Amino acid sequence: TRTPVNVTVTGAAGQIGYALLFRIASGHLLGADVPVKLRLLEIPQGLKAAAGTAMELDDCAFPLLSGIEITDDPNVAFDGANVALLVGARPRTKGMERGDLLAANGGIFKPQGKAINDHAADDIKVLVVGNPANTNALIARSAAPDVPAERFTAMTRLDHNRAISQLAAKTGSAVSDIKRLTIWGNHSATQYPDIFHAEIAGKNAAETVNDEVWLADTFIPTVAKRGAAIIEARGASSAASAANAAIDHVHTWVNGTAAGDWTSMGIPSDGSYGVPEGLISSFPVTTKDGAYEIVQGLEINDFSRARIDASVKELAEERDAVRELGLI
Ligand code: NAI
Repeated sequence: TRTPVNVTVTGAAGQIGYALLFRIASGHLLGADVPVKLRLLEIPQGLKAAAGTAMELDDCAFPLLSGIEITDDPNVAFDGANVALLVGARPRTKGMERGDLLAANGGIFKPQGKAINDHAADDIKVLVVGNPANTNALIARSAAPDVPAERFTAMTRLDHNRAISQLAAKTGSAVSDIKRLTIWGNHSATQYPDIFHAEIAGKNAAETVNDEVWLADTFIPTVAKRGAAIIEARGASSAASAANAAIDHVHTWVNGTAAGDWTSMGIPSDGSYGVPEGLISSFPVTTKDGAYEIVQGLEINDFSRARIDASVKELAEERDAVRELGLI
């Protein structure tokens, strides 16, 4: 039998954690033949609820789940971790300035990055879900100088999946017919869902839609503001779809993209497409054998250029702010 893969989940007692852990334990994260050991990291107030979730995980008798450990110590939680899903974060509360939000999250992601640096397995892969995800990933990465930078990623897969769903609905096509969609930039309201290189059943998506007004005034804002629309409708934030996207992100990273397709991941920029090196920005990527590569050579039209630049500018501002706070 295979040795179990150690998967650490932070914020395990939260909404996303509740939707995420059962799918990890049932084999959807890594594959139906890969046993997993779960490490749940919570703050002290969350430990009891995390223990309750662990009781339910036990009660599922998942054949692939070979152990659960619950802790409030990052050094324990990340010890030997192969995959780390950083979900727990400090939400923005009323009256909170951006600087306060970044500082509060720096207090979480800096020590977690250091614990990953000091204790995780050599093949560690990190996905940051907790917002502001891109900049939290940058903070964690900066605190982990011994881990290759490309192992730190931020989640834009939910935006990617939302965009595919909206495009399928608009064109009356199946989601499985849509390929090569891209989310560029920050996981925020400035993100840019790009359909100019996307294909619907092999035909160019932008040409099929042929409606730049819909693109600018409906599609892009609907995708970017979907999180707020869910809160408005459900009375709670999107948790199941966020957990699903986290599963997709890691599954694709580990198991590869399909031939002829790509996905979107927030990753440290190598300077491609004019995104300053080191910013954790979303790009079109292909994955293979546990590694990813930015899709090169795409032609970026003026419509796209302006929107990519605006989102990247926001990322640079967030980076400058956390630098000033001494967090990177
Ligand atoms: P939640 O508030 O239900 O759960 C967060 C959990 O994290 C709580 O149980 C809390 O005790 C825990 N936590 C806080 N600080 C911690 C720390 N230092 N170590 C370990 N655990 C800690 O929130 P929910 O709905 O589960 O969302 C989690 C995060 O994911 C939020 O920041 C949210 O904005 C973000 N999110 C990101 C998305 C994306 O597309 N990137 C999509 C949806 C949500």
